[in-house]
Amino acid sequence: MKYKKFGKTALKVSQLCLGTMTFGSNFYNIGAVNEELALELVKKAVNAGVNFFDTADVYSFGESETILGNVIKKLGLNRHEIVIATKVRSGSSIKAFENKGDINNIGLSRKHIFESIDASLKRLQIDYIDLYQIHGWDILASIEETLDALNDLVKMGKVLYIGCSNWSARHLIKALYLSKAKNLAEFVSLQAYYSLAGRDVEHELLPLCKEENLAFLPWSPLSGGFLTGKYTKENSKPQNARRSDFNFPPIDERAYDLIETLDDIAKQKGLSIAQLSLAWLLSKKEVTSVIIGANKITQLEDNLNSINIKLNDDEINALESVTRPKTLYPQWMYDRQNQNRDTFEY
Ligand SMILES: NC(=O)c1ccc[n+]([C@@H]2O[C@H](COP(=O)([O-])OP(=O)(O)OC[C@H]3O[C@@H](n4cnc5c(N)ncnc54)[C@H](OP(=O)(O)O)[C@@H]3O)[C@@H](O)[C@H]2O)c1
Repeated sequence: MKYKKFGKTALKVSQLCLGTMTFGSNFYNIGAVNEELALELVKKAVNAGVNFFDTADVYSFGESETILGNVIKKLGLNRHEIVIATKVRSGSSIKAFENKGDINNIGLSRKHIFESIDASLKRLQIDYIDLYQIHGWDILASIEETLDALNDLVKMGKVLYIGCSNWSARHLIKALYLSKAKNLAEFVSLQAYYSLAGRDVEHELLPLCKEENLAFLPWSPLSGGFLTGKYTKENSKPQNARRSDFNFPPIDERAYDLIETLDDIAKQKGLSIAQLSLAWLLSKKEVTSVIIGANKITQLEDNLNSINIKLNDDEINALESVTRPKTLYPQWMYDRQNQNRDTFEY
């Protein structure tokens, strides 16, 4: 396992992070992992060198954090050996999440952020969160209100670093410069959807993270299990597979062509499609840690093996050519106007 510097911080995290969205029993066909199985998954990950764990208050409405906290305790993991990331915004109240009441138990208001941190710390049975991430945009909250509340949590010692997830580049850059101007804690990471089948971040977010030295954490690196070969044009709803009942993240038709290319290369190299898809993300310098998910030990074993795979330029090109995003304006104008700028010799 390799360990990478976490953006501009001095923290080091494993190149694979164990995501725990599957922990719990109550999350729209995603959560199926009970505490016993979670313990085996975490143990296997730790033995492979994983030191980084990602959860959220909303995963099985608090159950994922509770299970992760119990498992860390049962395994006797030292606090200084692990990095724990969780999230705030969507909350642990089903009522609030489904817009059926409990109106302040959701969002990025100061009130909800202050109440959520204490609930997460209690469920995880820890004194501080290493990385506290906002889980998405809240149309009701100003960036100032959110940043101010997060800054106070850092000052109080409840949170070491703050991170962002699912924000647009325009909002993230505003937040970064507001933090600088007001001397508040800054986001040090972005957690965003990135996989071979979902490459929208390549337009703005990935270059932004590179320029601002933010750690970049891809979520759903297998597009919720799509990039494993179990979904085909002929059988788009296989049994016992999450996406068959929950089409998330959305994929387009090109993704099925991608599966064929992945299958060809995977066969040539004696790999699984999942391993190859993860190896592609691991080959990207901008990626700090890939957040993997599993609901079976065999899946986790398969995914952990991706760290041993080397892809050559031809293989990377073959994979990327199927889903390469269209170059949008003004990027094509940037490229055109700068053709004669990077070859200049002093
Ligand atoms: N910030 C956010 O908004 C956000 C959103 C989503 C996820 N996340 C984070 O990212 C983590 C990973 O997301 P994810 O669970 O969607 O990741 P993923 O890797 O895209 O999908 C994981 C699912 O794919 C299937 N799978 C995994 N490995 C497999 C293998 N080797 N062979 C066959 N099937 C396999 C399993 O589902 P089936 O067995 O049901 O097919 C598994 O639950 C989450 O735990 C969470 O921490 C964050």
